[in-house]
Amino acid sequence: MNLIIKNGTVINADGRRKADVAVSSGKITAVEENIDTGGQAYCVASNGGRNTVSLSPCVNDKQTEIVDASGLLVLPGSVDVHTHFELFFGDISTPGGYLSSADDFYTGTRAAACGGVTTIMDFVTPERNESLVEALEKRKKIADAKACIDYSLHMGISELNDRVIEEMAEVKAAGVSSFKVFMTYAFRITDDEFKRTLTRAKEINALVMVHAEDHEVLEANKAEFIAAGKTDAWHHYLSRPEAVEAKSVETAVELAKETGASLYIVHLACAEGLKAVEKAQQEGYPIYAETCPQYLNFTREVYKRPNARNFVCSPPMKGRESQAALWESVKGCQGNEGQRTVSLSPCALSSRAPTLVPGINTLATDHCPFQTCEKDRGINDFTKIPNGVMGVENLYPYMLSEANKGNISFERVIELCSANPAKIFGIAPAKGAIAPGADADIVLYDPTKNFTISQKNMHSNIDYTIWEGTKLKGYPVRTYARGNLIYKDGEFSGKPGTGQFLQRK
Ligand code: URP
Ligand code: ZN
Ligand code: ZN
Repeated sequence: MNLIIKNGTVINADGRRKADVAVSSGKITAVEENIDTGGQAYCVASNGGRNTVSLSPCVNDKQTEIVDASGLLVLPGSVDVHTHFELFFGDISTPGGYLSSADDFYTGTRAAACGGVTTIMDFVTPERNESLVEALEKRKKIADAKACIDYSLHMGISELNDRVIEEMAEVKAAGVSSFKVFMTYAFRITDDEFKRTLTRAKEINALVMVHAEDHEVLEANKAEFIAAGKTDAWHHYLSRPEAVEAKSVETAVELAKETGASLYIVHLACAEGLKAVEKAQQEGYPIYAETCPQYLNFTREVYKRPNARNFVCSPPMKGRESQAALWESVKGCQGNEGQRTVSLSPCALSSRAPTLVPGINTLATDHCPFQTCEKDRGINDFTKIPNGVMGVENLYPYMLSEANKGNISFERVIELCSANPAKIFGIAPAKGAIAPGADADIVLYDPTKNFTISQKNMHSNIDYTIWEGTKLKGYPVRTYARGNLIYKDGEFSGKPGTGQFLQRK
């Protein structure tokens, strides 16, 4: 079926205009004023509670659905490049020793779609000695059966040997062009292995992602606190404060500079780390940084609340100074007086590097919730709390609400949540913009709809939300994935297995 979205305001990262959007066979075919509908009456996409027009009378004889988006914003779907669906936490070799994160690829992509996300990227975590390519095929099978929106995967690297080095090229040829390493957790790699991963990634023109926290320091802090009986969630923060993250970010940046490889720092949450990244970016290195909405909306003060364990994630939320620095970078002053005009020099170091404004380049969620009873495992010992919080349904609505309140431009939100992640991870121009030739991944946003987040109106498989009670000004009212309506006014209508694996460059 074809689709024409009439009378909306189309916003992309580079600007906005009144235009209609035509869609055919899952692709955007035109973004123009006054697209001819053959005299067909419209459906009203959002009614603000005033209208109830059914879709069926709005389909014309050419099987084109015509939707009136008067008063609505027409936005590209968000690209969330950092989710953990069906992630195991704990000791997988011991029965009962591990937990799985709350969402699988069905409930996770359902929640994503209801929050205006049309592409997610998750992870492959090969077991020790397992072939990377086989682990990728296994993970794809799981995702293919359940995903309701398009998806891609990053390949985890937790050991480095000749086989892994060899297989990285095969993984890239299979459409996975990003590799993820950890500087902490049991599956961390050494600095030397990290450097070899970067070197290999540069050879095959791939991107390395890193979770940067200093393992030795944080483990020593944890041991000291537990021995002293300091077991509450505030000590989760104190065991891995700003300096613990900053030190590893600085190391990661140095290694990337030495090798000239492209590096992407996930969930950056501290001001000092951001400074190190910005400096390297201004020197022209292809280094990118992501932050997450939990670091923008909360500070370490959450770890003093009675339900503090529900907020435990790594890295933890930080102090006000870091929160302010992240916000300043996120705002980026795009399109305003005083815009930060420094842009990365076209990168001679890596052919895959897009040219972006220094600072935070993307927003993603690190969506990895665990149920309350699972978080409770750490009631008497913060080291036993499974790490991770939710956000896949919250990031885009939260940031768009901030734009609607005048705190950041809509264009910049789209840049951070859609255009830049699509460029950095090699799925542009199919994703990341409302433009002819792009996939019809479209969100209709009602700036007049007020919304209060509650676990009850979310679509994830989790029994609480850290966002409970957050009031948003404006909310997505429809999500289209490749031209198919999968979310409308609070109701999900997508189908498991319809999301496609995205072959990346
Ligand atoms: O606490 C978190 N972020 N859990 C998910 C795994 C990770 O470190 O990204
Ligand atoms: Zn992480
Ligand atoms: Zn993560």
